[in-house]
Amino acid sequence: MTTVSDLTSVRTAAFDEIPIIDFSGLLSLKPGANATAARAIRDACENVGFFYIRNHGIPETDIERTFDVGRRFFALPLENKLSIHKNLSPQHAGYTPLLAENTDLSNDGDLHESFDMVSPLAHYPAKKAAGEDVNLWPQSLPELKESLDRYFDQVLELGKRLFEMVALSLGLPEDFFRPHLTHPIAMLRINSYPPQPVRSDARQIGIGAHTDYECFTILAQQPGITALQVWNGREWIKAPPIPGTFVVNIADLLQRWSNDAFRSTRHRAINISGAARLSIPFFLGVNYYTEISSLPGCVSAECPDKYQPVIAGDYVLQRLNETYGMAPKAV
Ligand code: OGA
Ligand code: NI
Repeated sequence: MTTVSDLTSVRTAAFDEIPIIDFSGLLSLKPGANATAARAIRDACENVGFFYIRNHGIPETDIERTFDVGRRFFALPLENKLSIHKNLSPQHAGYTPLLAENTDLSNDGDLHESFDMVSPLAHYPAKKAAGEDVNLWPQSLPELKESLDRYFDQVLELGKRLFEMVALSLGLPEDFFRPHLTHPIAMLRINSYPPQPVRSDARQIGIGAHTDYECFTILAQQPGITALQVWNGREWIKAPPIPGTFVVNIADLLQRWSNDAFRSTRHRAINISGAARLSIPFFLGVNYYTEISSLPGCVSAECPDKYQPVIAGDYVLQRLNETYGMAPKAV
């Protein structure tokens, strides 16, 4: 098994580019492909916290369909969207109007609207019945549920594959995370960023500097518009959309689980393209009741355990409550 000093000794302070990792072969289990990609993933997780994946196996037409239906959702009259306001949902499903989310508390709110779908399979403590869908869907656009349900399943499968690669990269058995992924908490979001002037208030940008909360995020970006920026420890570097790729980033829960071997990197988005921009992040955690205490191989004499154990779902919901300015409530 890999030891901790191996995992943590190579972190560099800054990086200049975001690596691109090719997933072809991994999905068909080509011999040797796993080991090469696992090394590349470990390097990216430790040193950058971000990577692109190409040849990820999700057809472009399905991604385009999800962008199209997202565009139609945001074009609905405001009152339709407000009728499924996120405040109606203890799980944070539904619609978030402009400025209602605040990822950077030194800012004035984020300049985007969004729609969130939470995993219909996740076990939330206060969910009334097994299989109950806690999502808030707009009645006037039934295609939104159809498209998002389909895309959710596809990107969840990809996320489970990523967890396998992460396990291999840490020297753990490939199926290490499987018991924690039977009913994982996960959120599929569509963000819509209006264009903002090049000279505008720096405290009001598309999405303020933040780290994500779950284990990792798989982001589809609208082609042709660069808005996402990643903090490399010295400066912001651009993460433009690259055709045929997703951007993947490590989030706080996985950083904590890895006892800080992996890096949950700050990022933000500013849309000065002159046109509206959509992005579709998928935030993947693990089962609500998974206890997050440092992973095997991530604790040693040189690298003692830094964190108290937490329940995965409690941790993520508390972070979401803070972001939306809501008092914690029973879920
Ligand atoms: C997010 C996020 C970046 C983007 O939704 O957490 O960081 O490019 N989005 O939209
Ligand atoms: Ni983010």
